[in-house]
Amino acid sequence: MRSAGFLPALVGLATAADVWVNEVDTGLETFLYGANWTEGTQPALKDMRAISDFDFAARQKLGDFEYGFYRVAAGGEWSYRNNLEVWSKVKFRPQHLTDVTKVNETLKTTILGYEFSAPVFIAPAARGGYGDERGELNFVEAAAAENILYSPSIYATKTIEEIASVKANNTLNGPQVIFQQIYTNTNLSVTWDVIERAERTGAKAFIWTVDAPASSTRHRAARYDTTNSNSATSAIDWSIYDQIKNHTKLPIILKGITSVELALKAVEKGAKAIYISNHGGRQVEYSPSPLEIAYEIHRNAPEVFQKVEVLADSGVRYGTDVLKLLSLGVRAVGMGRPFMYANTYGVEGVTKAIQMIKSEVLNDAAQIGISDLHNIPKNIANYRQLEDEVYLLPESK
Ligand SMILES: Cc1cc2nc3c(=O)[nH]c(=O)nc-3n(C[C@H](O)[C@H](O)[C@H](O)COP(=O)(O)O)c2cc1C
Ligand SMILES: *[C@@H]1O[C@H](CO)[C@@H](O)[C@H](O)[C@H]1NC(C)=O
Ligand SMILES: *[C@@H]1O[C@H](CO)[C@@H](O)[C@H](O)[C@H]1NC(C)=O
Ligand SMILES: *[C@@H]1O[C@H](CO)[C@@H](O)[C@H](O)[C@H]1NC(C)=O
Ligand SMILES: *[C@@H]1O[C@H](CO)[C@@H](O)[C@H](O)[C@H]1NC(C)=O
Ligand SMILES: *[C@@H]1O[C@H](CO)[C@@H](O)[C@H](O)[C@H]1NC(C)=O
Repeated sequence: MRSAGFLPALVGLATAADVWVNEVDTGLETFLYGANWTEGTQPALKDMRAISDFDFAARQKLGDFEYGFYRVAAGGEWSYRNNLEVWSKVKFRPQHLTDVTKVNETLKTTILGYEFSAPVFIAPAARGGYGDERGELNFVEAAAAENILYSPSIYATKTIEEIASVKANNTLNGPQVIFQQIYTNTNLSVTWDVIERAERTGAKAFIWTVDAPASSTRHRAARYDTTNSNSATSAIDWSIYDQIKNHTKLPIILKGITSVELALKAVEKGAKAIYISNHGGRQVEYSPSPLEIAYEIHRNAPEVFQKVEVLADSGVRYGTDVLKLLSLGVRAVGMGRPFMYANTYGVEGVTKAIQMIKSEVLNDAAQIGISDLHNIPKNIANYRQLEDEVYLLPESK
């Protein structure tokens, strides 16, 4: 039984209107109270059994200011909740009696030609130092240990050079591959400097985040006077993309694709990859979830998934979430907050979170009758509820 003393903390995370708990009940609290756990201390890493457990664990360690910055989303946080809950609109249609014994051999993938052990990656997120004093160094090392992609934020706690200095030399690609995230909402010479330093330290692509043209409405963090990624309205348009192309030969991945029009324009402009995301619901209230965006692209312009590589994130917490995005043609799926929370356990925590999501992807795929993660039949899921709300371009109707 949950102790009465603990309840207010959970209710505090719910909206004023209705009780919505941030984490599903995985039995963690029941277990911890039975095991003589002291509130406000971090549970043992071995007791983390679900990705969402790390949120609870991080909250025990982090101060309100730090946790608030990681957890915050825009407005009344409806988009944040929708990111977590919209998955229920797509139910599986498990195709049993399919030979799934070799699905594990299809977990590995490539992103822009680089090899990774799984179609999951660590999304770029600012201020890794709040979770652990080694900050982003833990992400680099855990990503190398598990052979997945990591993209450091331009607003990382550690410098580009510090992050590069711990890259492994012996990954599937040889030297570890990192994609540097950039914003262009400050003085552009700052961006050119970051591009130059990231190239010098061996970054293999840039992830250009296009969804932060102004300050976002973030009440939970404003309470602690936390600034966000951009505090002034700035011109972010396609001419900036052309300017970035002038400053680097590396591929530029557009992050923050939230509509089919934007996806099509990126393809037209020659982007090698696009990145579906509503920034974890942090930028603007009522922005769509990656499942809804991927479905909109699938219904209006399915060729996008063939023409460019499509990454996605926001609200991914389970293996089944990853599978739903892959089934629509997404190539690799990122997580932000879960890894920030796992980082409160250092590199072991991040590594464990990666292992968890990989093993869920494999086990869930097998349960559903998916034998090849690169060829997921459309009939394994029922998308009818997404169809009810999908936006159709005039020419798609
Ligand atoms: C604490 C935090 C900081 C973030 N900082 C950045 C950033 O600097 N650049 C960026 O492109 N995205 C940033 N993001 C967004 C993530 O890249 C990602 O889109 C988002 O976290 C995905 O949603 P999820 O947290 O539900 O997995 C940040 C997210 C969080 C939680
Ligand atoms: C609970 O933990 C404390 C501190 O570790 C210990 O002193 C106490 O004996 C434990 N109580 C029970 C019932 O296990
Ligand atoms: C995949 O699983 C099968 C059966 O469990 C096992 O024999 C094989 O070694 C595994 N392959 C990989 C790449 O893990
Ligand atoms: C990788 O190799 C470089 C050059 O030899 C070295 O400086 C660096 O420490 C190595 N990285 C790791 C993580 O061992
Ligand atoms: C832009 O940044 C550069 C350093 O990167 C600095 O020299 C310059 O003064 C800045 N310009 C403005 C307008 O702030
Ligand atoms: C790109 O660089 C070329 C050569 O320096 C210049 O003529 C052109 O105007 C630049 N384009 C943009 C969009 O900055």
